[in-house]
Formats: sequence, C-alpha cells, structure tokens
Amino acid sequence: MTIETVINVDLDGPRINRHVYGHFAEHLGRGIYGGFYVGEDSDVPNVGGIRLDVVEALRDLNIPNLRWPGGCFADEYHWRDGIGPKDRRPTMVNTHWGGVEENNHFGTHEFMALCELLGAEPYISGNVGSGTVREMSEWVEYLTRDGDSPMARLRKAHGRDQPWQVRFWGLGNEAWGCGGNMTAEHYGQEARRYGTYCRDYGDNRLYKIAAGANADDYAWTETLMKQVGHLGCQRVRSTAYHALSVHYYTITGPTWEEKGSATVFDTGEYYTTMAAAAGVEQVLAGHAAVMDCYDPNRTVGLVLDEWGTWFDVARGTHPGFLFQQNTLRDALVASVHFDIFHRHADRLVMANIAQTVNVLQAMILTDPDSQAMVLTPTYHVFWMNRDHQDATSLRVDHRTAPPTRPVGDTTLTTVSMSASRKDGRLLVSLSNLDAAKAAEVEIDLRGGGVERVDALILTAAALPDHNTPQAPSVVAPRRYDGVSVTGDRLRVHLPAASFVTVSGALTR
Ligand code: AHR
Repeated sequence: MTIETVINVDLDGPRINRHVYGHFAEHLGRGIYGGFYVGEDSDVPNVGGIRLDVVEALRDLNIPNLRWPGGCFADEYHWRDGIGPKDRRPTMVNTHWGGVEENNHFGTHEFMALCELLGAEPYISGNVGSGTVREMSEWVEYLTRDGDSPMARLRKAHGRDQPWQVRFWGLGNEAWGCGGNMTAEHYGQEARRYGTYCRDYGDNRLYKIAAGANADDYAWTETLMKQVGHLGCQRVRSTAYHALSVHYYTITGPTWEEKGSATVFDTGEYYTTMAAAAGVEQVLAGHAAVMDCYDPNRTVGLVLDEWGTWFDVARGTHPGFLFQQNTLRDALVASVHFDIFHRHADRLVMANIAQTVNVLQAMILTDPDSQAMVLTPTYHVFWMNRDHQDATSLRVDHRTAPPTRPVGDTTLTTVSMSASRKDGRLLVSLSNLDAAKAAEVEIDLRGGGVERVDALILTAAALPDHNTPQAPSVVAPRRYDGVSVTGDRLRVHLPAASFVTVSGALTR
C-alpha cells in the first residue's frame, strides 16, 4: 500500500521555534562533571574545564538553548555557592541525585562560558523550592545588570565586567513534586511573587517560565492560566510569567521500579515505547486547549522543558545517576516527538530533551575511564532535523490513512511525518515505526516542486543497536537513494524502523 500525501509548499504556517530543539544539563550523575566539564587540569582538551569535543559536537546541532542547573537540583541550588575561587566554594549534598557531594566548581560563570562556547542561549532555572525571592532577584541582577549596583560589583569582582544577556528564566521546577510539593494554587501565587522581583535590567528582557504540569495534569495548567489571567483577564499581559512548562517522559515499563532496559527489549516493549512517545501529542494538545480558553491570542507560551525516554539505569552504574544507553528505538522516539512539535508550532515555544550528556535520553555519552565520546542515535536525529529550526511548518495531509497497529488500549500510527520550508528549501522528515514492514509514501507537492534532492537515512540491523567507543557508527546517518522525484511528486521508500529526511530546493 502506498500512503498518498499532500504538502502545499507555498502555504503559510506557524514558525517552528528553534528553541524546540533545546537542551538540558542538570547537576545529575555525569551530566555536568565528566560530561560537559572536566576541570582545567584534565587531559581532555578543554577551555576553562569545559570539554571541547562535546562543545564541537553540539555546535554542529545549532543547539539553541541550554537549561541549567536542574531539574530537581535547581530547587536546592544556591547560586552564590558557585561563584568565586573554586577552592573556596562551599560544598553541598546533591540529595536528589545519589547523595553525592557537589563541589560547586561548575557555577554561574562556567555555565555562561559554556553557553558562549556553544552559541546557545542560557535558560536558567531559579530556586523557588528552598530559595528566597531575594536570592533569585539578586541572581538576575548579578547576571544582567550593567552599571553600578551591589550585584554588578560582585560580578565584576569575580572577573566579568559586562553583564550577560539572559532571556529564559524558570521560576522553579516541578513545584508539584521535588520543587516543593506545592498545590497549583499555592505555586501560582509563588510564581507571581518570585516573577515580580525578577527585573529587566537595561535591554535585557526576561522571558519567565512558570513550573508547569506533570504530563496530563490539565488542572495544574488551568489554575496557572487563571492566575496569569488575573493580571490581565482574558487579554493576558502578565509581568509575572510569560510561559508555562510541562514535563512528559516516555516510560515503557509497568511500574517505576521496572521501567525496562534501554538495550534489552522485545518488539512488544518497543511498540509500547513508541505508543508512549506518541502520547505527547495528546498532552500538548490538551494543555494548549486549556490555554486557548484563557489566552485565545496565544501570547502565553507552552514549554516542554523535559522530555525523552526514561529506562532503568545501565547495569553496574550508580542508581542515582540515570545513565542509560541510547538505541535506534530512542532515535525514533525523538523523531516522532519532533513531528509532533512541528504540528504544535503555534503554541509550543520551547522543548528541552532530558538530558544532553550522560543522563537519560542523551545526545552524547562519555566513557568514564577512557573519556572517549560517543554520539548517540538521538544526536543524529537532532542533526538530520536541524534545518527545521525557525522554518515555516507545513501541513502534511494524508489522502491514504497511514498504517496503524493496536498497542495496549491505544492505536499507534506507524508512519509519522512533518515538513517545513526555509530559505527556499523544503525539508520533509519521515519515520517508519513498524519493526518489520517497509512503507511507501508518495508526496504530491502542491504550489511548487523540488530539485537537487538529498536524502539521509538513520536505521540499523536491529532496534537495540547502539553506538559505543569501540563501534561509534553502528547507528549513524547515511546517504539514501530510496527517494525518487517525478515532476512535483516525491516517492519515498521507508525501510522498517527507519528515519529518513528528504530536502531539496523549491522550484517555484
Ligand atoms: O531529568 C531528571 C529529573 O526528572 C529532573 O530533575 C526532574 O525535573 C524530573 O523529575
């Protein structure tokens, strides 16, 4: 069966905010220490302790933003502990992640230097759970205030004259759980209070993001939207916060204790994972629908600032460090998420995969002994899709319904697609989630054709295939010749369990 599809390449659509390709680095396991940061004395090439191989790999993704310092860690982080001479920085216990001692060697200056090296915007999560309004307010002043003021002087005393530009500011994290176990009503008030004292200095304009719901907790979003509304009623003009976040993880196993192995799984578990991943569409649509009631002009952004697979930790690793391998299955989870993000471009302003290095669904894994770095299958999806950033999202209309299969009490559509247009080029992403059967897609391009078509494919002999320092390219993109162009029609053959991108210059 051929899936007949229409893409009107000349129609307008919402812009895919580049920030939906955002990242996340928490003080968790080997995410920061050993991942991004090895210290100045390391044999690993570094600048000020920041690993250059990791930076280079992420620059190739055009990484738009990096969220830090957590996660749950953010709500017990006190920023003043992370400035000044490293040997005088106080230590603390990282109670959420393994109870290990945190030496605070990676702090504000190191994070901002990392963002500068990456060419990424910082997204800082402030501490609402165990911090104070004053502490957060002073952090903003320290980072962004020019001229003479107590915090600007402190920053200068620590070697940074010019203020930094910081736009994205999180008002806590998971306030319903590790961020303070608050009710939505209570947190909504706290977010307004904290947000009030996070000031705009000079030309720096904060974009304040309130800690949002867990998955499908639409009541949380409704409560927060009502509270934004109180500042401007139906026409939302909040100075307290500009966006709400939501977290959605792809979890396969029946219980939290049995989330399943990242590398040892059968086809049934694979489909369960893919159905869970596809579930993010309902979650985004549900929150967007609630937000539309209070904010019909869509001025409040939706930020999915944690997403990705969460499996059992790799055997032999610290249970609190959340280190997991990354297979072709993870790549398909990522590609399906991006199709959904592109479809929800009118409300979704940012998304951050959890997490970038060595934690959960990572882009990069580093070996603790050899320090070798490996790019994961998920990394390659970000790379193949990078030209969707800031492109115009195009509707993909199927004239023939794509195949489906029942998975538990839901139905999984096994061919997923999205498309965009930017700078006179078309980019189409296609995933075949069927573990065994190939699929054929015929795309009728209306309003323009394409020429000089390039295609790439990401697939492997088996779904659990992954990359290691010894075999770093088992799952890596390759040029693909399974695409043919006839007039304004593109025909794409999709092997089982594959991700394909097709790009070309638009002719009209
Ligand atoms: O990403 C790991 C953790 O998951 C984060 O710290 C927390 O926000 C979420 O529960």
